[in-house]
Amino acid sequence: MAFVTHYVRRGFSSSAVRSVVIKNVTIIGGGLMGAGIAQVAASTGHSVTLVDTSDDILKKSVKGIEGSVKRVVKKKFADKPEAGEELIQKVLQNVSTSTDAGLAVRGSDLVVEAIVENLKIKQDLFATLDKLAPAHTIFASNTSSLSVSDIASSTSRLDRFGGLHFFNPVPMMKLVEVIGTSATSQETFDSLMSFSKVLGKTPVSCKDTPGFIVNRLLVPYTMEAIRLHERGHASKEDIDIAMKLGAGYPMGPFELSDYVGLDTIKFIMDGWSAMDPDNPLFAQSELLNKLVAEGKYGKKTGEGFYKYK
Ligand SMILES: NC(=O)c1ccc[n+]([C@@H]2O[C@H](COP(=O)([O-])OP(=O)(O)OC[C@H]3O[C@@H](n4cnc5c(N)ncnc54)[C@H](O)[C@@H]3O)[C@@H](O)[C@H]2O)c1
Repeated sequence: MAFVTHYVRRGFSSSAVRSVVIKNVTIIGGGLMGAGIAQVAASTGHSVTLVDTSDDILKKSVKGIEGSVKRVVKKKFADKPEAGEELIQKVLQNVSTSTDAGLAVRGSDLVVEAIVENLKIKQDLFATLDKLAPAHTIFASNTSSLSVSDIASSTSRLDRFGGLHFFNPVPMMKLVEVIGTSATSQETFDSLMSFSKVLGKTPVSCKDTPGFIVNRLLVPYTMEAIRLHERGHASKEDIDIAMKLGAGYPMGPFELSDYVGLDTIKFIMDGWSAMDPDNPLFAQSELLNKLVAEGKYGKKTGEGFYKYK
């Protein structure tokens, strides 16, 4: 672990604070997001330990990372095959795997959690890791919809706990929302900002508020598109065309919902409407509920608002 000195950007003070230089990273959860974060961290020179519940899952994660880096190399290193091969080797060398999270965190500067979106499971994981990780280790959750403070409350390191919200697909998407809770120290916050920049991402700062910035705007917008269609005011096809051609969005709200997963959108909405049932932005949609009940989650199941081959 090393420290660098720079200036406070978050508050009004200009006094110097230190931030942890992050070299060794443990990523818990080798699914869609965890594998993507591992890939980006490994390709920017970090030593990464990827943790999941079984060796089979981890094998698939590493295969996925290899395939993804190869695609990047094909695109970006077409005229420099040696540099491309070097990157593939670097990433694979920098990623190791483990099914023992407690062991993995022992040499870590940062733990990024990307497991199932369930408060109790995340709290239990962090409570265990809190006892095993070194004192300087920063904990971060990639949660999309839960309160970072609630997750952190199972640990004794509230000052060394924050949110790092990456976007799917992680290697492609430039944004990271960096979440500081009311207890996150300036040093931790700065370390998370610096880490995001070293990954080649553009970090933005957000308080620990439901949905942070992107989902807080995007999910109610998507829900209103669904309700507009339910009210019979426009077809889903026309709404998608309208938002692409009229607002310059790369995908319409129905296409985006199918891409994200209707189950994910419903999960987020259910959480928010339980928290704030009278907020019309969080009102339920019968159509969304019906599709999810039928297992029509979007692209990943072959059908959502649209059908996929
Ligand atoms: N999918 C997205 O677009 C997206 C975007 C941003 C943030 N997120 C958030 O990232 C997190 C992960 O989402 P995902 O889409 O990668 O999920 P996923 O289902 O693809 O992967 C989750 C992985 O975590 C593993 N896991 C579950 N419990 C574990 C435990 N106790 N220890 C170790 N591994 C465990 C599972 O085996 C699985 O491989 C969630 O909190 C989600 O809200 C998702």
